[in-house]
Formats: sequence, C-alpha cells, structure tokens
Amino acid sequence: MLFEQIRDAVMSARLAPGDRLPTSRALAVELGVARSTVATVYARLIGEGFVVARIGDGTFVAHHPATTGGTRRRGTAATSLAARRVVPRTPHVEPTADVRIDLRTGRADPRLFPLVDWRRCVTGVLHTPPPGYGNPVGLPALRTALSTWVQRSRGVVAHPEQVLVTAGAQQAFDLFARVLLAPGDTIAVEDPGYGPARRVFEHNGLRVVPVPVDSDGIVVDEIPSAARAVYVTPSHQLPTGVTMTAARRRALLALAQRRNLAIIEDDYDTEYRHVDRPLEPIQMLDTSGRVLYVGTFSKTLAPSLRLGFAIVPEPLLDALTQARALVDTQPPHLTQAALATFVSGGHLDRHLRRTRRVYGPRHDLVREHVAGLHADGLIPPPPQSNAGLHQMVHLHPGTEAATIAARLAERGIAIDTTSDNWITPHHDGLIIGFGLADLDQLAIALPLLRAELEVAPHTR
Ligand SMILES: Cc1ncc(COP(=O)(O)O)c(C=O)c1O
Repeated sequence: MLFEQIRDAVMSARLAPGDRLPTSRALAVELGVARSTVATVYARLIGEGFVVARIGDGTFVAHHPATTGGTRRRGTAATSLAARRVVPRTPHVEPTADVRIDLRTGRADPRLFPLVDWRRCVTGVLHTPPPGYGNPVGLPALRTALSTWVQRSRGVVAHPEQVLVTAGAQQAFDLFARVLLAPGDTIAVEDPGYGPARRVFEHNGLRVVPVPVDSDGIVVDEIPSAARAVYVTPSHQLPTGVTMTAARRRALLALAQRRNLAIIEDDYDTEYRHVDRPLEPIQMLDTSGRVLYVGTFSKTLAPSLRLGFAIVPEPLLDALTQARALVDTQPPHLTQAALATFVSGGHLDRHLRRTRRVYGPRHDLVREHVAGLHADGLIPPPPQSNAGLHQMVHLHPGTEAATIAARLAERGIAIDTTSDNWITPHHDGLIIGFGLADLDQLAIALPLLRAELEVAPHTR
C-alpha cells in the first residue's frame, strides 16, 4: 500500500523530482508502523528507480523518465486509454548518480571494456555503407565465428546454421516462449531463479512452475510431470551461484528424454570461472537434440550492446527464424559485423584473459569476506559459488534484507536483495555483485555490510 502510494505520487508528479522524503523513522512514527516496514518500502522504491538515497543527506524523488522533460505532469488530463495487458514490472536497472559503490548483481565493469579493439572493429565496418535487410537470425560471418568460438571455449557443438544472434539472452527466452511452447503450457523454472526469464515466460501466457534448487542445482525429481520445458542456469545458478553437478545434469537429460522435455540452458556467465574448470554444458551431453543453449555478451562486454546468441536444435530453426523476423526483423548490422571481427580476430579471447585477472581477485575477496561473516555467526552458511560476478548470502531469520539494503543505500551503496528471485515464500538474502566495484570499493563496502549485519536483529 505504502509503496503504491509513494510510487503513484511520483508518477503523477504530486511528488516532484528532487523532493525529499521523510526519514524512515519519521514516516514510521507518523503512520504508526514499524520502521522496518518503511525501510522495506524505501528499498523497493530505490530498487525500482522511483527514489534515490544520497549519502548522509536523505531520500529524494528520482528524476524518473515519467516525470522529466521539463514539464511537471500535474493536472495532465486523464485519458480513457489504458494498457489492456498487464506487463510485469522489471526492477529498475539504470545506475543513479547517487550510487557511490555499486554492488548490484553481476554487472560488467565499463572500465574494463576493450575500447581500443572494439573501436577498431567498428571502424572496420564503417568503410562501406550499411547493407539492406539481412538474415533475421544473424550475419553469416558472426554465426560462423560464434560456432567456432563456443566449440573451442566450452565444447558446445554447433553448426553455424544452428546459431541465432539475439538481442541479448532475454530475446532468446522470448523467442523460445513464442515458438517452443503454446499459451497455457507449463514451464519449470528454478526457485530462486532469474526474474526476467520468468517474467517473459509468464507474459507469453505460459504457466511458470517453481522447482527448488539445492546445493547440486535444480531438484530434478520435483520437476512437475506437466512441464514441457525447463529453464536452468547450470554453470552458475542465479542467484545462489551453485554449479549443477554432473549427476544432476545427467538426471535432467534422462528426465527430458523420458518426458520429451525441452531444456533451456542459460549459460550467462560461464566465461568467468574463478576456481575450477567449468563442467561440460548440458548441450554437449545431449544426444537427442533437446537443449536450447543461450549465451550473452552482457557480462563480458556490455549489456547495452544487446548482443547474445542461442544454439538451437535444427528442427526449431525455421520457426525461430520466422519469429525473429516477425518481431524484430533482424539484429543490427553494425554491432554484428564488429563482433564477428572481434571474435574471429582473437580480441574476445584476449579480453577474457585480461578481465579474468581482474574479476578473479574481486571474487576471492568477496568469498573470503563472506566466509568470515559466516565464521562470526552473522550469516548462515553461504552457497558455494566459484564463478561469475556475484556471491549470494542467506540471512538469519529475522534479519531483513530490504532494511540492510536501505541502510546501505543511505551510505551510497547499492545492493540487490533476493526478493526478485523467489516465487515461493523464502528467507531473505542479499546478492553481492563485484562486477562494478573494484577492490578498493569492495574494501570500503564489505565492512559496512558487516557492520549492518552486526546490528541487525535476528533469531538463530
Ligand atoms: C541468469 C541471467 N541470464 C541472462 C542474463 C543476461 O541477460 P541479457 O543478455 O538479456 O542482458 C543475465 C544478466 O543479468 C542473467 O543474470
């Protein structure tokens, strides 16, 4: 209620950009509710970008797109037009000026972007005018480069024809939902899991069923018999970070074969494996053509490039090609051609070697710190995570993740809670992202997180 009231006040400009909100303590007293309730609401408003916290200053209405543009929307005439379909809300993802240290989940560090090589690759494309319409699922040169690269780097076997260039992983999920399944079909997803995938399945009319995750990955025995597809993140489960064991991978494939299930394998950050070698992708173990494998350049290059790819079984190719042509004509030529040179010219491999050397120590520092939090009884045992750009922590019952996130936000530190990841009721958790924060910033932020945990109420 309170969240909706403040959000609506921001959206309708009753609260203007820059207006200061009362402190959580003052508002709690005014409304006669617990301070943690207000803190939770503020954390959500910050997370969705309606308000921002400024260090040592307070909480203010953000310059949200709905209220910018010079004119306040006060008194705008009501219209009878309204969206007929409810679109699930995506938590706000843009950085805000008030964030001093950004610990949000798995963002690539723009300071590591291979600007010189990328510029050269882009400039190389600009010697000739852009061509006319092209292939809806990608430039042949890029599909060939990607098929060679995935085979060499992770053992994924794919003929170039099976490679689809997509606008990030998210478009691959959307295309799969349109083509592989019909509205009303059941898809099983990990719980906790990746919110944007779940939401795009739901929006396509699929029945999304949560399946628990344990320290070995998705609990295969709990995949419902009605499921026609299952979405998994085996290399580095989002958000827990656990790696699906080889036994679980085999069990999942065996079940898929028995029940004629499709497996959507989201391998979104496999490039960053800090401790051991990655296990073989399920796609590689599959002999019956039921795995749809997805990769992205959002973690390795930049999410705003909107470059991802899918490797799909041949019988689905035509329908997926038609679906892409229908909704988005084709991927942009410029970035595709640049990426083709970037991959085939060896720049990507070089960039990955360089960035692994930067992210590795950040991962080690966070892991060590989290182990210390557990050793001191401040958090339950953390899930084992050897990869990627984030580490999840569970919290003791009674410790509210949103309150901790809100208090850190007041100090200019942005951190995600796991609330977007869960479908079923759950204990609170936090996700410490170390893609954007360097070692110096982590050395500031992690002790502040510890200090919040030390004063947080909890029951053990
Ligand atoms: C589980 C998971 N899959 C995929 C992605 C990448 O999405 P996209 O390629 O659409 O940017 C992310 C990014 O955060 C992710 O966490």
